[in-house]
Amino acid sequence: MEEKSSVCRASIGVFDSGVGGLTVAREIMRNLPNEHIVYFGDTARVPYGSKSKDTIVRFSRQIIHFLRTQDVKAIVIACNTASALALDTVEKELDIPIIGVVRPGARVAVATTKNRRIGVIGTESTINSHMYQKLIYEQDPSITVYEKACPLFCPLVEEGWLKDSVTQEVARRYLDELLNKDIDSLILGCTHYPLLRSLIHELVGDDITLVNPAYETAKELGQLLLREHIANPDEPADPPATEPYRFFVSDMADKFGHFANSILPYDIETIQKINIEEY
Ligand code: DGL
Repeated sequence: MEEKSSVCRASIGVFDSGVGGLTVAREIMRNLPNEHIVYFGDTARVPYGSKSKDTIVRFSRQIIHFLRTQDVKAIVIACNTASALALDTVEKELDIPIIGVVRPGARVAVATTKNRRIGVIGTESTINSHMYQKLIYEQDPSITVYEKACPLFCPLVEEGWLKDSVTQEVARRYLDELLNKDIDSLILGCTHYPLLRSLIHELVGDDITLVNPAYETAKELGQLLLREHIANPDEPADPPATEPYRFFVSDMADKFGHFANSILPYDIETIQKINIEEY
């Protein structure tokens, strides 16, 4: 009994190639306020979106190894690229639950589409893996999926150009192709893209529903914790007895902090830099 309750009070490990996964962490904070989080952003090795499966699997294994040293009870791969390329491999190696963002995103898109034509945008590696397409077809083979890599979006978001005319032009060029396909749902298949939501919405109009996998991932995590009987029963204390959210990066902690403070509903006080290659 004692042992079980200490597992319930352990943290959720959340990782991403850098800052983008904070859009997923933010949803977990909103939806599961009792849960503590250990977040790792691989800021030394970002971007993952242009790297191979072997590399992403190696990085993911190292990060999971690190998160295990922080006594986590479950892991969320907040990065779409790592979810698409590494989840299948690493989940077989773990004895705690792990989920990614791609499966929940695919599931909600299938539930959303009415005309069975779905668009997916993401990094080059995510799109080339065709993982969203595969998971959508598994649920409903009659759906047609149109995919488009949008590699310039991440640097534009990190530059803070969320409403800039340059970003509008880039988005128009990327999305024109999908708009001609008569899609009614568009999966924002990269951690950074929810931050471009209003710009993309302006461009695609009200007839296309934008699907943010982060919401669904947080919901799915909540169900998983209940199913496994490892949800934290403690209401968050005010002020908290222990730091509920802890942040680690592999480089550039200050830059991470600035970006994080623009995304999260509160300011992060400490960010620890670690050498991820040691894990
Ligand atoms: N976090 C990555 C993703 O969601 C985007 C940034 C990168 O390329 O590393 O795919």
